[in-house]
Amino acid sequence: MARIRSITDASIAEAAALLRAGELVSLPTETVYGLGANALDDTAVAKIYAAKNRPSFNPLIVHVPDVATARQYAQFNDLAEHVAETLWPGPLSIVLPRTEACALSKLVSAGLDTVAIRIPASPHARRLFAVADIPVAAPSANKSNRLSPTEARHVADNFGEEVSLVLDGGPCTVGLESTVLDLSTDTPTLLRAGGTAQEALEAVIGRPLARAGTDDHSPKSPGMLSRHYAPRTPLRMNAPHAEDGEALLGFGAIDGTLNLSPSGDATEAAANLFRYLHELDAMNFTGIAVAPIPEEGLGHAINDRLRRAAQK
Ligand code: TXA
Ligand code: MG
Repeated sequence: MARIRSITDASIAEAAALLRAGELVSLPTETVYGLGANALDDTAVAKIYAAKNRPSFNPLIVHVPDVATARQYAQFNDLAEHVAETLWPGPLSIVLPRTEACALSKLVSAGLDTVAIRIPASPHARRLFAVADIPVAAPSANKSNRLSPTEARHVADNFGEEVSLVLDGGPCTVGLESTVLDLSTDTPTLLRAGGTAQEALEAVIGRPLARAGTDDHSPKSPGMLSRHYAPRTPLRMNAPHAEDGEALLGFGAIDGTLNLSPSGDATEAAANLFRYLHELDAMNFTGIAVAPIPEEGLGHAINDRLRRAAQK
């Protein structure tokens, strides 16, 4: 069972230090408890997917204490500024293009060129982010396909030592995940209904929202997006070696141009995946051959993303 501490100056300081050290910390927000990790750190973010048993790399929401911090990572257009000013802090996540100098792990975006950002209303959460002084990636702190946690003990019951600390801020007041609003295109689109009502959003935006799944460019689950990241260079999987002109993206004993994890550790491989694909894509190879990744642990999620990237 993961360790629980109630909110005090000391527990906030401990949680902040653990986050900065790349550990997982569960934190209360007004919606649900989040499973937080340093959003600047590929390895820390990969630990989230491993702990949740997520079958694929769905992009994660990045939490920050204020709009000035949000602007470092996401490009705010006029509409986004207006929505943020009116509805933040609160149960609303806004999807925007990543800034050019965006220092966030590529894994939080699952290879997309956008990022979902949120300033929670929970004062405990904002205090933690301010003390830690890093952006925090946090999905709901439940195993995949399980109920979202709205009390600290829900989290502690479901996770062991892979979660270093659960901060107990009492029951969540909203208890339902944040609304996810995509403002990265010209068509404001509701990607997920949640704690901020659609009517409230439409009143602020001044027009009806498109809904995910009702038009082509916004399928229901971003995991299913066809505009997922695929390198420009053709990619093939399960390759024991490279052909002439190809890069080899290695894993374990199969070494290559780059190696996702020389020790064959899927969590390390997940942390490196998107960054290495970007690097190889920039190197003018005729193709990228990827060594076999075992279908276990984060290997499922890695292979899911590779299959999408390999699709012609
Ligand atoms: O209330 C919440 O939102 C909680 C608390 C902890 O903040 N977090 C949460 O995260 O529910 P998660 O990972 O369970 O859900 C994130 C949602 C998913 O539907 C994901 O596909 C979508 O946000 N999302 C994240 N980044 C995105 C992006 N760049 N583009 C489109 N959708 C994105
Ligand atoms: Mg969830």
